[in-house]
Amino acid sequence: MNNTSPTSLLDEALQRHLAGMDPDAALALRETLCAVARACVRISDVASLGVLADAHGLAGASHVHGEEQKRLDLIADDLMAASLEGCRHVAAWASEEHEQPHVSHAHGAQGSHLVVFDPLDGSSNIEANISIGTIFSVLPHRYRGMAPGAADFMQPGHQQIAAGYVLYGPATLMVLTCRRGVLVFGLDRRGDAPQWVLTYDNVRIAEHTREFAINASNQRFWEKPIQRYVAECVAGDSGPRMKDFNMRWVASMVAEVHRIMTRGGVFLYPRDTREPRKPGRLRLMVEAAPMALLVEQAGGRATNGTSELLDLVPDTLHQRVPVILGSKDEIDRIVSYHADPSENVSWQLFKTRSLFVQPQA
Ligand code: F6P
Ligand code: MN
Repeated sequence: MNNTSPTSLLDEALQRHLAGMDPDAALALRETLCAVARACVRISDVASLGVLADAHGLAGASHVHGEEQKRLDLIADDLMAASLEGCRHVAAWASEEHEQPHVSHAHGAQGSHLVVFDPLDGSSNIEANISIGTIFSVLPHRYRGMAPGAADFMQPGHQQIAAGYVLYGPATLMVLTCRRGVLVFGLDRRGDAPQWVLTYDNVRIAEHTREFAINASNQRFWEKPIQRYVAECVAGDSGPRMKDFNMRWVASMVAEVHRIMTRGGVFLYPRDTREPRKPGRLRLMVEAAPMALLVEQAGGRATNGTSELLDLVPDTLHQRVPVILGSKDEIDRIVSYHADPSENVSWQLFKTRSLFVQPQA
């Protein structure tokens, strides 16, 4: 790799980071991650040009979830596919934009990795020039010698070899885990060629927080444990938590998770009763599982309320799940609310219990 490649510094950093790993496995992982990172440089270019690159607006089609696809969704998807096709270690990939996985023409049987991705997360924010992202996950291709099918992708999140996201915000950042903690790379465009430069090598999510993120317009559809948690946060200083909370909602999961990486917090897209056949909005394989690995590697926790997200075995490529992740103390609390149905009471009741009565000044 020459030094004008946008991934030469990334590759050097990964060489150091993966020291001690089986050399062939480490080389394969570096090459796969560099293929993803190269595609994301191109996505960042197009995203930053926006309307100048004719990248805004609807594409005129819908994907498997029935949502309208944006032009940038499809451009990002094509850029990822082209880059992965060129990587000898990638046997197949699955994208949020396609019903079925795509087997690499050249490397389908021999590649050691399956890559799963959401090419453009937070699409509703594209035209508003609000942060968007790409989410990716690397799984093992367990049956080398055979081209993988959809069933080969049905692996629980704890099997992921690596996971990450790229945030296209004021800065373009890649946040990555290879199960050895969480690294952050910034895309430095000051030289002749853009470069991914390591900026943090051990991200830790604050255990305590006073910040939560949820789409409150769905409140009437939430289940009781979530009603209780949010009511207690909103009650603030005068409720059982005896402290004020702040609320945020960007509507780009990548941006929400990145805020949690930097200063702690909780992100909830819980189960709701809007559409009983859809137990959540977010997709297990392209969103929940990779974010769960990142969050856990940074010392946080990720659950659907009753099970760890990393333990869920997908039934289908596009399965949706409730997602609750972030600072460990808060997630422990939310899990305890789910575990104890008798506790599903309004926070006002707690005012009467001595344990929760605010000390008199
Ligand atoms: O990819 C789904 C997504 O765009 C997430 O990035 C984001 O967290 C969520 O949907 C936003 O949902 P809503 O439209 O309900 O605010
Ligand atoms: Mn998404």
